[in-house]
Amino acid sequence: MDTITSAKDITTISKAARRAGRRVGFVPTMGALHDGHLSLVRLARAQCDLVVVSIFVNPTQFGPSEDFSTYPRTFEKDAAMLAADGADYIFFPAVEEIYAKDSATWVTVEGLTDKLDGRSRPGHFRGVSTVVARLFNIVRPDLAYFGQKDGAQVAVIRKMVRDLHFDTGIVVGPIVREPDGLAMSSRNVYLDACERRQALVLSRALDRVSSLARNGETRSAELIAAGRKEMAREPGVRLDYFEIVDWNTLDPVEDAGQGALVAVAAWLGKTRLLDNFVIEKYSAK
Ligand code: PAJ
Repeated sequence: MDTITSAKDITTISKAARRAGRRVGFVPTMGALHDGHLSLVRLARAQCDLVVVSIFVNPTQFGPSEDFSTYPRTFEKDAAMLAADGADYIFFPAVEEIYAKDSATWVTVEGLTDKLDGRSRPGHFRGVSTVVARLFNIVRPDLAYFGQKDGAQVAVIRKMVRDLHFDTGIVVGPIVREPDGLAMSSRNVYLDACERRQALVLSRALDRVSSLARNGETRSAELIAAGRKEMAREPGVRLDYFEIVDWNTLDPVEDAGQGALVAVAAWLGKTRLLDNFVIEKYSAK
């Protein structure tokens, strides 16, 4: 496994691989890797001939008062994990490699970027779509891998790929959880012992909604009320949103029986956590 810091070099490597008929898989990350990230690397390894993982803490997706400067940076540990899981290349660029000093081009997926996380983090999704577009143009992957954990991000990237005719297929991997149900996240390290315990309320609220849905409740209003009620049982946790939306448009749906994304975001102290699950389209037998 090699670490490449130059955009031009990784483009050359990827182009040569594609010319030789090899399928290039790409997993974009911000590092501080955990098993959620690694599950995507393994998926890419199983489906592709060459696996590139980027580690880039993207400044443009952080708000001015967010955790860009303190975001965990654990390159040595990340590299060891990636070598063990069979990545071929780490793309590890400096900020100026992605954003030249006179860089002026942004990618905005209108209509999606102000929903769910975009509503509480203005500018966040513009930063995500901009960096992913740049990374796609640099790495030129056949397939790129994203986690369902960031459900709204998946919607934004899928739409961007369709709208801009990127020649890259998007593969979405399932949410990887700690044994007690907490969705893995690089930000879980911020939680103190009390918050770590309280954080379980997110998956618990989703489980509650999931069991109601399995028992035939499809009215979103009822499901959301049950989810919010469960969240309220942990008063130390500040709910950002609990919504049931169409996974493509991120618009609320009234009838979750048509298939929907049930998504929650909440603050534990200074840490914002996400979780979700998908209700499959209900078909009467
Ligand atoms: P990051 O938070 O590092 O996540 C990288 C990828 O890992 C994302 O696709 C994310 O959804 C996935 N992931 C994180 N936790 C996961 C879990 N518990 N189970 C499965 N997959 C999980 O998302 C970003 O970075 C950035 O926004 C990025 C796309 C790299 C653009 O900067």
